[in-house]
Amino acid sequence: MDAMRVGIIGLGTVGSGVVKILEEHADLLARRTGRTIEIVKVAVRDLNKPRAVSLPSGMVTDDPMSVATHPEVDVVVELIGGLKPARELLQAAIEAGKHVVTANKALLCEHGPDLFPLARDRNLCIAFEAAVAGGCPIIHVLSQAMTGNQITAIQAILNGTSNFILTEMYHRDQPYADAVKEAQRMGYAEADPALDVDGTDAAQKLGILVQLAFGARFTPDQFIVEGLDTIELADLQYADELGYAVKLLATARLVDGALEMHTQPTLVRHEKPIAQVDGPYNMIALEGDAVGRTWFSGMGAGQMATASAVVADLVDIAVGRAQLTYPHLTLQSSDPAIKLHPAEGIERRYYLRFNVEDRPHVMADITHVLGEMEISIASVIQHEAPEPDEVSLPGPPIVPLVIMTHRTTEGQVRQASAKLAALKCVREPRVCMPVSD
Ligand code: NAP
Ligand code: HSE
Repeated sequence: MDAMRVGIIGLGTVGSGVVKILEEHADLLARRTGRTIEIVKVAVRDLNKPRAVSLPSGMVTDDPMSVATHPEVDVVVELIGGLKPARELLQAAIEAGKHVVTANKALLCEHGPDLFPLARDRNLCIAFEAAVAGGCPIIHVLSQAMTGNQITAIQAILNGTSNFILTEMYHRDQPYADAVKEAQRMGYAEADPALDVDGTDAAQKLGILVQLAFGARFTPDQFIVEGLDTIELADLQYADELGYAVKLLATARLVDGALEMHTQPTLVRHEKPIAQVDGPYNMIALEGDAVGRTWFSGMGAGQMATASAVVADLVDIAVGRAQLTYPHLTLQSSDPAIKLHPAEGIERRYYLRFNVEDRPHVMADITHVLGEMEISIASVIQHEAPEPDEVSLPGPPIVPLVIMTHRTTEGQVRQASAKLAALKCVREPRVCMPVSD
């Protein structure tokens, strides 16, 4: 049987999973492709680290460039993450005539525009199903199954770690820091978990989906990106009381020919499918003009789910399918007609929470600021503070105040938040989240 020879750079969470699948399903994959998929070389950073998989001696090196350019390698699988040295390795692999498979969304987001033409010019493909939503095959969906549609909206949970953290905090009462550690232990988090919780990872993935769906390239520095850092358990509880779950939502929507894009913790009504996605799962809700609304869900992070997507790309290359679809349809053209909607003009409802002094005129001061900004209040929660006693601190008690607004713009709510912050009666924390209607 003809062999497709693979070099793997990175043998961490995902790399080990890929080796496991290629070993355990060797016969199955050979039957499906009519070829054997053989691992020829593997690169790691530290040769002395204990590994979850055992490989023949001599196969593993700490020189990744020797794998990228190895004369016996047909396909290079990059699973080290980050920009350096991943970019140089991918470029060298392509220049040496190799197809590439990668799970590295940071790299595609930053260097896709240089690397894709390089591969296309040589009739090679860069396959990246694992880069967005782990085991949920959304890249295949957008680049193949949905190509008859003008996509009009994407609303998605794209970061498994932050969804896992929100779920652990709310359903298991786990403190934020413990939930982050657990996500790292489970292999969901990035090498730098700040990228998961500050919204960067989800925003990079949204950028890739937007390029496939709308043919337009926007990077996270061009749209609203917010993470979980201001959210507390109290917000998840107030949201629940109001009938909502809090999700780190990545959204792109065509409004009057311009694209609204944002990645933010967002209140989503409990009954919506995306509100019910828990743990490390992702969901992508797509709207197409022909197909209507569709939902895709699966594990967004984790060893075997992500490895499953990498191996699917290898199979696509082995049978020649990826060479037909990836280079010609994906990430190649920019649609100059699509502009980004200015953030200030995006219209939504908002959830606001701040601590306030519990004394006369406070509510009047706050509603005055909102009224000045033409922001209409939809509902208010202020629970009673305990009556002061002899051990209470001097001054008025401090109570949390939650306000749900009617539709307003991001610009108005930002200005109102700045004015509210300047009021003597308003104290930290100050939380502001949009509501998805
Ligand atoms: P990881 O567990 O940290 O593994 C990284 C691997 O790369 C390690 O084996 C490391 O070697 C190796 N490495 C790093 N720098 C290297 C260098 N300069 N030369 C040679 N080897 C090097 O990371 P991971 O979670 O598997 O993630 C890999 C990629 O998949 C990232 O792009 C990530 O964003 C993406 N991804 C991950 C998941 C997930 O759930 N984990 C899901 C989707 C996508 P040592 O082992 O010797 O340190
Ligand atoms: N750290 C990422 C996440 C891995 O949690 O979603 C999958 O890309």
